[in-house]
Amino acid sequence: MAPDNRIAICPGTFDPVTNGHLDVITRTSAMYDRVIVAVVNLPWRKGSTVFSTEERVGFLKGATQDLRNVVVEPFSTLLVDFARERDAMAIVKGLRAISDFEYELEMNQLNRRQDPEIESVYLMASAKYSFLSSSGIKELATFGGDIDDLVPAAVATALQERLGR
Ligand code: PNS
Repeated sequence: MAPDNRIAICPGTFDPVTNGHLDVITRTSAMYDRVIVAVVNLPWRKGSTVFSTEERVGFLKGATQDLRNVVVEPFSTLLVDFARERDAMAIVKGLRAISDFEYELEMNQLNRRQDPEIESVYLMASAKYSFLSSSGIKELATFGGDIDDLVPAAVATALQERLGR
């Protein structure tokens, strides 16, 4: 791989994207030449996310528009197959707490079994986002909590419209 074409994948469901995800994506974009934010698209699980794939991709595109080396794409294959197709050298994820570690260890071992050549890299969450999760945000939005500093403005508005009581 050319030294100026080191590609990383930042994968996730992003239902919805939070400022914690954006922190990891921004830090990844400073470490690699190109970053592909890969958004899980499972149409057969329709209804299992609050936002459609198109909406989740749209929020991410809006929130990363100033990052010149970042693109956003949906995917509906195995993550390692998507990474290989895009010629990526790494999958980059954020780790918040020990509770993330167990899940990520399992995913890491599944992914490495499929393709040992694609390395997974973990960035420790910035302290100010270490408590932040998409599910927590949805719960706050449902009960009228203040989420303005935790998600992009477009996401806060959409969440209040979709979940607010
Ligand atoms: O925690 P998330 O955001 O739901 O993570 C999604 C993803 C795809 C990063 C995680 O489930 C993973 O690493 N999966 C590996 C197995 C796989 O390739 N699944 C296919 C998803 S379309």
